[in-house]
Amino acid sequence: MVTRPVVHGGQVHQVAKALGRSVDSFIDFSASINPLGPPASVLRAMQAALPACGHYPDPSAEELRMRLAKEHGISSDSIALGNGSSELIRILPLALSLRQGYVAGPTFMEYEASLHIAGARCTHVLATSGEKYAPPMEELSLLVDAIHAGSQKAARRGGESHTAVFVCNPNSPTGRVVTARSLRTLYRKIEEAGLWMVVDEAFIDFCPSHSLIKEISNARRLLILRSFTKFYGMPGIRLGYLVGAPETVATIRRLLPPWSVSHFAQEAGVAAVDDVRYRQRSVKFMQQERPRFIKRLREVPGLRIIPASANFVMAELPSTCVTAGLVSRMARQGLLVRDCQTFSGMTQPALRLAIRHPRDNNRVIHALKKALREGGCD
Ligand SMILES: Cc1ncc(COP(=O)(O)O)c(C=O)c1O
Repeated sequence: MVTRPVVHGGQVHQVAKALGRSVDSFIDFSASINPLGPPASVLRAMQAALPACGHYPDPSAEELRMRLAKEHGISSDSIALGNGSSELIRILPLALSLRQGYVAGPTFMEYEASLHIAGARCTHVLATSGEKYAPPMEELSLLVDAIHAGSQKAARRGGESHTAVFVCNPNSPTGRVVTARSLRTLYRKIEEAGLWMVVDEAFIDFCPSHSLIKEISNARRLLILRSFTKFYGMPGIRLGYLVGAPETVATIRRLLPPWSVSHFAQEAGVAAVDDVRYRQRSVKFMQQERPRFIKRLREVPGLRIIPASANFVMAELPSTCVTAGLVSRMARQGLLVRDCQTFSGMTQPALRLAIRHPRDNNRVIHALKKALREGGCD
């Protein structure tokens, strides 16, 4: 079963073409990319890698996997690299022979798409506007209990579980985070029930204390997804990885196309992981700019700002707002913002805004304030 097309942020090339303008004339708030990136060390490493483009890349990306293994204190055979984490998300339902996925939403749409492409069902367990999109941990826990009770009966009849629970942490587009403790509690139940838990940590480098990655060696039904795209500001390079039990990772690696991670991406990855100063600078920048941006956004009449833990903020709009009109108006002013209505399960009009440099952030706040004042949302 093939799903409907997924809409993503970061459509700067398409919008520039449609409006007859250059890509450089836009400030992109729609794709949640670290404004400090890509690190200079990554650009240097890619330049140095140029002469090697006459050879195939190392298909096992040994050096980068070893480097990541050391960084996380895990074994290199528990890591699979992909051409962006979206490549890994695509093959996950196939690799785990999933028939059913429960997705904590509203969230990144590729889990749903990948489940459908693999012929599996997708059910969203939704956070609500009323609860400021607090992750639905209680609901997930009750759901796992119910599945467990049912699956014990199925197991007695020789059945086997093909079910996974997907949690994006911190979640996009809502920006809400689940503590490692709370996720660990859910994981224990999931493991007992014989299900899988997939945690997408694409944005976790902005709040690393909530990561479960260090626990991977003791959690054989846990899979963690990581991306270089957001934190290292390198969406064009395409690099992500998955961490899990070695036997599961071996299955996933067998399903990946050969050489899907280029030599440039591998070299860029090693340089990025080695760049401790860039990481510290990025976390510090976000810790300073996020509260300032949120405070200013809260002053805009008509916006309801959802608490945020990563490098973007979700702003709910008045319920009568036609989001698409507002998004087009902003684009004509050179400001790309993400319409959240394309995420399954969103009931309220809302925008997702990447946190960028203070001057850019002030510009988007000013434009939003003006648009809402002038009825640009009606
Ligand atoms: C939550 C989340 N996970 C994963 C991805 C995929 O990232 P990439 O394929 O660039 O690594 C994205 C991209 O938007 C995302 O928002």
